[in-house]
Amino acid sequence: MANIAFVAGSSRANSQSSKVARFLRQRAIALGLCDDANSSVIDLGLVPLPLWPAEDEGPWALFAQQLAAADAVVIISPEWNGMAAPAIKNFFIYASKAQLAHKPGLLVGVSAGVGGAYPISELRASSYKNCRLCYLPEHLIVRDVEHVLNLPEPSSEADQYLRERIDYTLGLLGLYSSALTSVRAAADMSDKRFTNGM
Ligand SMILES: Cc1cc2nc3c(=O)[nH]c(=O)nc-3n(C[C@H](O)[C@H](O)[C@H](O)COP(=O)(O)O)c2cc1C
Repeated sequence: MANIAFVAGSSRANSQSSKVARFLRQRAIALGLCDDANSSVIDLGLVPLPLWPAEDEGPWALFAQQLAAADAVVIISPEWNGMAAPAIKNFFIYASKAQLAHKPGLLVGVSAGVGGAYPISELRASSYKNCRLCYLPEHLIVRDVEHVLNLPEPSSEADQYLRERIDYTLGLLGLYSSALTSVRAAADMSDKRFTNGM
């Protein structure tokens, strides 16, 4: 069984991204990929990280522990003005290879409309270089977010499809989680010349 950290990247309290994070965690538990004790939700709306650099890094020490304990990470970002939300970009200034190197990362874009692809492409392009998080080729886009994942049973065909896609994609995350354990055990991260990615 893996330990999975779910990061809700909206800076709004009670965000839709937070709802998605909690739904994904419950599905991962139901699928036997992790359990309550071996999973965490880092909700950047409920427990905000101060804008880096900050004299007081607030909850970062706790988040760093949760991420370091994880075998896999799910990064959830709302699409704001065609971008990844600033809270998740700020998160990636704090996060480093000490917490995330060579761990599988599942990206999840969230939109109240039919968007959600921009945060995926932005984070694929610019969040992993130094922390070496390994994004899966699969990702999830939760469109029309206010009308899906609200109830135990799906409320529409789109909700049903999304839930099936979520189970499929979380299953893949579990497979990558097992596979990359041996990569982390064997990878030499000690050469100071290669501290940062190119
Ligand atoms: C400042 C702002 C900009 C937004 N821009 C977009 C956008 O470019 N594309 C989009 O699909 N939705 C956009 N939305 C709507 C979000 O997709 C929506 O708020 C969604 O529920 C996720 O936000 P939350 O996780 O903070 O609740 C925007 C929302 C805000 C607050």
